[in-house]
Amino acid sequence: MERTYVMIKPDGVARGLMGEILSRIERKGLKISGMKFAVMEEAKAKEHYAEHAQRPFFAGLVEFITSSPSLSLVVEGKDSIKIMRAINGATKPAEAAPGTIRGDFAMDTGRNLVHASDSPEAAEREIKIHFGEGVLLSYMRCEDVCLYE
Ligand code: RTP
Ligand code: MG
Repeated sequence: MERTYVMIKPDGVARGLMGEILSRIERKGLKISGMKFAVMEEAKAKEHYAEHAQRPFFAGLVEFITSSPSLSLVVEGKDSIKIMRAINGATKPAEAAPGTIRGDFAMDTGRNLVHASDSPEAAEREIKIHFGEGVLLSYMRCEDVCLYE
Protein backbone atom coordinates (compact mmCIF):
# COMPACT_ATOMS: atom_id res chain seq x y z
CA MET A 1 0.00 0.00 0.00
CA GLU A 2 1.40 3.39 -0.98
CA ARG A 3 2.08 5.92 1.77
CA THR A 4 2.46 9.67 1.58
CA TYR A 5 3.31 12.45 4.00
CA VAL A 6 0.70 15.16 4.50
CA MET A 7 0.88 18.25 6.66
CA ILE A 8 -1.93 20.54 7.74
CA LYS A 9 0.16 23.69 7.96
CA PRO A 10 -0.12 26.22 10.83
CA ASP A 11 -2.70 28.27 8.90
CA GLY A 12 -4.95 25.23 8.52
CA VAL A 13 -4.72 24.48 12.24
CA ALA A 14 -5.20 28.11 13.31
CA ARG A 15 -8.21 28.55 11.03
CA GLY A 16 -9.93 25.52 12.53
CA LEU A 17 -9.77 23.46 9.35
CA MET A 18 -8.20 20.27 10.72
CA GLY A 19 -11.54 18.49 10.90
CA GLU A 20 -12.61 19.60 7.43
CA ILE A 21 -9.30 18.49 5.90
CA LEU A 22 -9.15 15.17 7.78
CA SER A 23 -12.75 14.55 6.77
CA ARG A 24 -11.96 15.03 3.09
CA ILE A 25 -9.04 12.60 3.37
CA GLU A 26 -11.14 9.99 5.17
CA ARG A 27 -14.23 10.34 2.96
CA LYS A 28 -12.11 9.80 -0.13
CA GLY A 29 -11.17 6.38 1.25
CA LEU A 30 -7.59 7.05 2.27
CA LYS A 31 -6.40 5.75 5.65
CA ILE A 32 -4.47 7.71 8.25
CA SER A 33 -1.65 5.58 9.63
CA GLY A 34 0.34 8.27 11.44
CA MET A 35 -0.60 11.52 13.14
CA LYS A 36 1.55 14.00 15.05
CA PHE A 37 0.38 17.35 16.38
CA ALA A 38 3.35 19.56 17.23
CA VAL A 39 5.24 22.74 16.56
CA MET A 40 7.72 21.61 13.91
CA GLU A 41 11.38 21.97 14.90
CA GLU A 42 13.33 24.41 12.74
CA ALA A 43 15.86 21.75 11.71
CA LYS A 44 13.06 19.47 10.50
CA ALA A 45 11.37 22.29 8.59
CA LYS A 46 14.67 23.15 6.86
CA GLU A 47 15.29 19.52 5.97
CA HIS A 48 11.72 19.09 4.78
CA TYR A 49 11.92 22.10 2.45
CA ALA A 50 15.62 21.60 1.49
CA GLU A 51 14.75 21.63 -2.23
CA HIS A 52 13.69 25.29 -1.82
CA ALA A 53 16.75 26.39 0.20
CA GLN A 54 17.93 28.83 -2.47
CA ARG A 55 14.50 30.32 -3.17
CA PRO A 56 13.67 33.82 -1.90
CA PHE A 57 10.65 32.56 0.05
CA PHE A 58 12.62 29.88 1.98
CA ALA A 59 13.33 31.83 5.19
CA GLY A 60 9.75 33.05 5.45
CA LEU A 61 8.42 29.58 4.72
CA VAL A 62 10.51 27.98 7.47
CA GLU A 63 9.57 30.75 9.90
CA PHE A 64 5.88 30.26 9.16
CA ILE A 65 5.92 26.47 9.28
CA THR A 66 7.60 26.55 12.72
CA SER A 67 5.49 29.43 14.08
CA SER A 68 2.66 27.44 15.62
CA PRO A 69 1.30 23.89 15.70
CA SER A 70 0.88 21.85 12.55
CA LEU A 71 -0.56 18.39 12.05
CA SER A 72 1.68 15.81 10.37
CA LEU A 73 0.02 12.78 8.84
CA VAL A 74 0.99 9.60 7.10
CA VAL A 75 -1.78 8.78 4.66
CA GLU A 76 -2.03 5.46 2.90
CA GLY A 77 -3.96 3.92 0.07
CA LYS A 78 -3.60 2.92 -3.58
CA ASP A 79 -2.08 5.88 -5.48
CA SER A 80 -2.21 7.95 -2.27
CA ILE A 81 0.57 10.30 -3.48
CA LYS A 82 -1.29 11.43 -6.60
CA ILE A 83 -4.66 11.38 -4.89
CA MET A 84 -3.50 13.61 -2.02
CA ARG A 85 -1.96 16.13 -4.45
CA ALA A 86 -5.31 16.21 -6.27
CA ILE A 87 -7.27 16.69 -3.03
CA ASN A 88 -4.95 19.58 -2.06
CA GLY A 89 -5.13 21.32 -5.45
CA ALA A 90 -2.63 23.58 -7.20
CA THR A 91 0.06 25.31 -5.13
CA LYS A 92 -1.28 28.77 -6.01
CA PRO A 93 -4.81 29.17 -4.68
CA ALA A 94 -5.73 31.32 -7.69
CA GLU A 95 -5.05 28.28 -9.88
CA ALA A 96 -6.56 25.68 -7.55
CA ALA A 97 -9.84 24.23 -8.74
CA PRO A 98 -13.01 24.52 -6.68
CA GLY A 99 -13.53 21.27 -4.81
CA THR A 100 -9.88 21.11 -3.78
CA ILE A 101 -8.74 22.20 -0.30
CA ARG A 102 -6.74 25.13 -1.65
CA GLY A 103 -9.44 26.00 -4.18
CA ASP A 104 -12.12 26.09 -1.51
CA PHE A 105 -10.32 27.62 1.48
CA ALA A 106 -7.05 29.40 0.52
CA MET A 107 -6.24 32.86 -0.87
CA ASP A 108 -2.44 33.06 -0.86
CA THR A 109 0.43 30.81 -2.02
CA GLY A 110 2.28 31.31 1.26
CA ARG A 111 -0.84 30.34 3.23
CA ASN A 112 -2.06 27.39 1.20
CA LEU A 113 -3.04 25.23 4.17
CA VAL A 114 -1.66 21.83 3.25
CA HIS A 115 1.35 19.92 2.02
CA ALA A 116 1.60 16.51 0.39
CA SER A 117 4.65 14.64 -0.93
CA ASP A 118 5.09 14.94 -4.69
CA SER A 119 6.78 11.59 -5.49
CA PRO A 120 7.49 8.18 -3.92
CA GLU A 121 11.05 9.31 -3.15
CA ALA A 122 9.79 12.48 -1.46
CA ALA A 123 7.20 10.51 0.52
CA GLU A 124 9.82 8.11 1.87
CA ARG A 125 12.18 10.96 2.73
CA GLU A 126 9.51 13.10 4.39
CA ILE A 127 7.96 10.25 6.41
CA LYS A 128 11.44 9.49 7.72
CA ILE A 129 12.02 13.14 8.71
CA HIS A 130 8.75 13.51 10.57
CA PHE A 131 7.98 10.04 11.91
CA GLY A 132 11.30 8.21 12.01
CA GLU A 133 11.20 4.44 11.84
CA GLY A 134 8.57 2.02 12.99
CA VAL A 135 5.94 4.29 14.55
CA LEU A 136 3.20 3.92 11.95
CA LEU A 137 0.02 2.05 12.66
CA SER A 138 -1.25 -0.81 10.59
CA TYR A 139 -4.93 -0.95 9.87
CA MET A 140 -7.28 -3.35 11.55
CA ARG A 141 -9.99 -4.41 9.14
CA CYS A 142 -13.20 -2.53 9.78
CA GLU A 143 -15.40 -5.57 9.55
CA ASP A 144 -13.32 -7.20 12.27
CA VAL A 145 -13.44 -4.44 14.84
CA CYS A 146 -16.01 -1.81 13.88
CA LEU A 147 -19.11 -3.92 13.40
CA TYR A 148 -18.87 -6.80 15.89
CA GLU A 149 -17.83 -7.12 19.50
P1 RTP B 1 3.87 21.82 -0.66
O1 RTP B 1 5.28 21.36 -0.90
O2 RTP B 1 3.73 22.72 0.54
O3 RTP B 1 2.87 20.69 -0.71
O4 RTP B 1 3.42 22.72 -1.85
P2 RTP B 1 3.67 22.43 -3.35
O5 RTP B 1 4.43 21.16 -3.56
O6 RTP B 1 2.36 22.56 -4.00
O7 RTP B 1 4.58 23.67 -3.69
P3 RTP B 1 6.18 23.78 -3.65
O8 RTP B 1 6.60 24.27 -4.97
O9 RTP B 1 6.81 22.55 -3.11
O10 RTP B 1 6.36 24.96 -2.60
C1 RTP B 1 6.38 24.68 -1.22
C2 RTP B 1 5.61 25.72 -0.48
O11 RTP B 1 6.34 26.94 -0.48
C3 RTP B 1 5.44 28.02 -0.49
N1 RTP B 1 5.72 28.85 -1.65
N2 RTP B 1 5.70 30.14 -1.59
N3 RTP B 1 5.89 32.87 -2.23
C4 RTP B 1 6.07 31.97 -3.17
O12 RTP B 1 6.30 32.25 -4.33
C5 RTP B 1 5.98 30.58 -2.82
N4 RTP B 1 6.16 29.56 -3.64
C6 RTP B 1 6.00 28.46 -2.88
C7 RTP B 1 4.04 27.48 -0.58
O13 RTP B 1 3.48 27.45 0.72
C8 RTP B 1 4.26 26.09 -1.11
O14 RTP B 1 3.22 25.22 -0.71
MG1 MG C 1 6.23 20.64 -2.58
